[in-house]
Amino acid sequence: MQGQSRTSVAVADDQAFEVVRDATSVLHTHNLTKVFRSGQQETRPLDGIDLSVERGEMIAIVGPSGSGKSTLLHLLAALDTPTSGEVYFARNSLWSLSEEKLAEYRNRTVGFVWQRHHLLPDFTAAENAAMPLLVRKVALKQSLKAAGEWLGEVGLGDRSEQRAGELSGGEQQRVAIARALVNQPSVLLADEPTGDLDERNAEGIFDLMLRLHHSHRLTTILATHNSSLARRTDRVLALEHGKLAPALEPHPLAGLGNTQFANAGAKTPGERG
Ligand SMILES: Nc1ncnc2c1ncn2[C@@H]1O[C@H](COP(=O)(O)OP(=O)(O)OP(=O)(O)O)[C@@H](O)[C@H]1O
Ligand SMILES: [Mg+2]
Repeated sequence: MQGQSRTSVAVADDQAFEVVRDATSVLHTHNLTKVFRSGQQETRPLDGIDLSVERGEMIAIVGPSGSGKSTLLHLLAALDTPTSGEVYFARNSLWSLSEEKLAEYRNRTVGFVWQRHHLLPDFTAAENAAMPLLVRKVALKQSLKAAGEWLGEVGLGDRSEQRAGELSGGEQQRVAIARALVNQPSVLLADEPTGDLDERNAEGIFDLMLRLHHSHRLTTILATHNSSLARRTDRVLALEHGKLAPALEPHPLAGLGNTQFANAGAKTPGERG
């Protein structure tokens, strides 16, 4: 069921955004810069980022707290505007899209998983997961049916009717993943999706994301502080001092606690063009 619908959604995306079908780069940024100013204080978490993400890639963004990982994901999701530079989806500059297409990009092309799930505690798991469909004015019955199927995919098939506030942290994050995917986006952005979970639940959520990434042919970018999970993605990029670079191989003599990452096959953004 999902495979077939994905194809139709991908085609819808392609039509909406004039995708060049043989193009492998689905998302890219050019000289992306974000400056926050408050009073005399200026913070520049992103300082000329050139990132190229291929269709079907899974990328981990790592970096110290405050380095700009959330800022970057928000710009990729069009939840915030850059100070300068561009974000392109399928060669379309996001900020040159009409309001209508930009809303469609936010709602349908991209799914977003937050560190804190932001579920509505008094609503059921299915109602929460159905929210993006309801925003699109899809009929309630149809929305709940689709949400129920996604809850099955994330391992909560028997919890559809339970209030979100009664679920465990790991279960709530699963509902948030179902909600992010219910519109069958082609891009999944996740901001420290395992940040609030214990090790076992974090592993479980990461395994789930990896499985969904492959089975739904997603392009996935996640921010994480967890080096062992980051290493299991296709590419690890480190964000620091406003710049994004391939994370380095750990030094062979480096002991536990090393903050650098294995990164087999990493290419610089320039190499990926
Ligand atoms: N709306 C804002 N106004 C002012 N400064 C901001 C705003 N949002 C983020 N910043 C600043 O930008 C920098 C990057 O913040 P960001 O939240 O992107 O970091 P992060 O890498 O996601 O950190 P963490 O790992 O703790 O989540 C920080 O110095 C932060 O204080
Ligand atoms: Mg953050």
